[in-house]
Amino acid sequence: MLSMIKSSALQGIDSYPVSVEVDLSSGLPSFDIVGLPDSAVKESRERVRTAVKNSGFSFPVKHITVNLAPADTRKEGASFDLPIALGILCASGALQSEAAKHYFVTGELSLDGSVRPVNGVLPMVYGAKQNGIKKCFVPPENVDEAALVEGIEVYPVHNLKEISEHLSGKNKIMPYAINIKALFQENHDSDLFDFAHVKGQENAKRAMEIAAAGGHNFLMIGPPGSGKTMLAKRLPSILPDLSFEESIEITKIYSVAGLLRNKSSLIRTRPFRSPHHTISASALTGGGRIPKPGEISLSHNGVLFLDELPEFQRAALEIMRQPLEDGQVTIARVNGTLTFPSDFMLVAAMNPCPCGYLGDGNKCHCSMNEIIKYRRKISGPLLDRIDIMVEMPAVSYEDLDGVELGEASSEIKKRVLAAHQIQLERYHKEGIYFNAQLSAAQIERFCPLGTKEKEILRNAFERLDLSARAYHKILKVARTVADLAGSEDITLPHLAEVLQYRSLDRKYLL
Ligand SMILES: Nc1ncnc2c1ncn2[C@@H]1O[C@H](COP(=O)(O)OP(=O)(O)O)[C@@H](O)[C@H]1O
Ligand SMILES: [Mg+2]
Repeated sequence: MLSMIKSSALQGIDSYPVSVEVDLSSGLPSFDIVGLPDSAVKESRERVRTAVKNSGFSFPVKHITVNLAPADTRKEGASFDLPIALGILCASGALQSEAAKHYFVTGELSLDGSVRPVNGVLPMVYGAKQNGIKKCFVPPENVDEAALVEGIEVYPVHNLKEISEHLSGKNKIMPYAINIKALFQENHDSDLFDFAHVKGQENAKRAMEIAAAGGHNFLMIGPPGSGKTMLAKRLPSILPDLSFEESIEITKIYSVAGLLRNKSSLIRTRPFRSPHHTISASALTGGGRIPKPGEISLSHNGVLFLDELPEFQRAALEIMRQPLEDGQVTIARVNGTLTFPSDFMLVAAMNPCPCGYLGDGNKCHCSMNEIIKYRRKISGPLLDRIDIMVEMPAVSYEDLDGVELGEASSEIKKRVLAAHQIQLERYHKEGIYFNAQLSAAQIERFCPLGTKEKEILRNAFERLDLSARAYHKILKVARTVADLAGSEDITLPHLAEVLQYRSLDRKYLL
């Protein structure tokens, strides 16, 4: 007897269909899995055998061949346990194979026959629906993400017995559904830190508002205790809301990383990741035997915050250069490459010198050599990808002593949202969401300057010895400043404000 179960495998944050073919024939009892399985799939043989027995079925004493087609791709993970077990039971006649044919199936089995969660259920179910499949069996812990796909019935299955009774019609499982639109609209801002508690630092706050509105990379430089970390933590409270498409995109990444379970299924706020400076290069970019997205992908459509930037390993910082440019990261694998999206906003903080107090009275005792060495840890090309740089002086006593609260995040966010809306409308045919994403050609179209503005920029260019990249960035950031002001044209004051953020280049690039 031959049976066929529909399943799928992951590739990056997408899935491709895999059909699990099982053949039972008479002959010496054996159990083989073919189709380039990795060791996890081989181990699944033992789990399937034991799980089937412990679920009250008899394991067929036959010559069993399982083929995971297409055979030329490398399958990873334990998600084929359930489809293999189902295929065997269908081929042996213990289950209704006619009924099982219509389901997409994924899940790991434990020895007692219960179904365990797997990674990447959202992209898998999404792919299944695109292939015209109408129903799916998924592990109970993964139902929330599976239910995000509209137009496919999701059946949570706890064990093989449930599936058997469902297929025979004896005991039907209730399909699981959620109201996606309502879930997306739920308010989720309440527990964020608020800008109101940051005293002084008006310049940095303004720069952060611009960065948030246009999605620009942002660097804060200042002595310890000036509020760099404090400010960064408040960034999520003013970031523009996610669109539904962006939300699904991020949720797919978290699904593949296995970070969705038992949490709310749909990611509705922009990610804010702040990895510790001891993080390795591969944890940043992603990879591993079963490839998982790294921090830069987990920050997709959101913020990657690198606190104490010079403390990061140089290799880790270098490896981010390409993803920062491309908005995606490519990981080399034994057989081919893999891409994960990684379009994030880089926010970083650093001290001006090793002791941290350079420029703060006479407190600093670092030698020029030490300072140069410290700053060299951050490569020029990485700094070159920073759009906005601000110096944060130590907070004065007067500022700290003031009882007045600063402007609340909700007020700042209103301006950010208005500026973002302008960008969404301007770029709705371009496939981008933020000024920061403008290509060189797009900059020419969307950031034209008048004669006076051109003159100012030319002067600055020569005076500050700016690179071509810096030139484009100035225009992009100026576009955001103009959008925040609700102005169609980029005018002198907009340009002047932006140039002030670039004048630090020379000082810190050394
Ligand atoms: N501008 C500020 N307004 C209010 N409190 C501040 C400010 N700057 C620093 N602080 C206080 O100092 C603490 C340390 O600030 P932090 O953000 O960690 O500094 P940094 O990261 O620059 O070293 C904060 O938790 C906060 O209590
Ligand atoms: Mg800090």
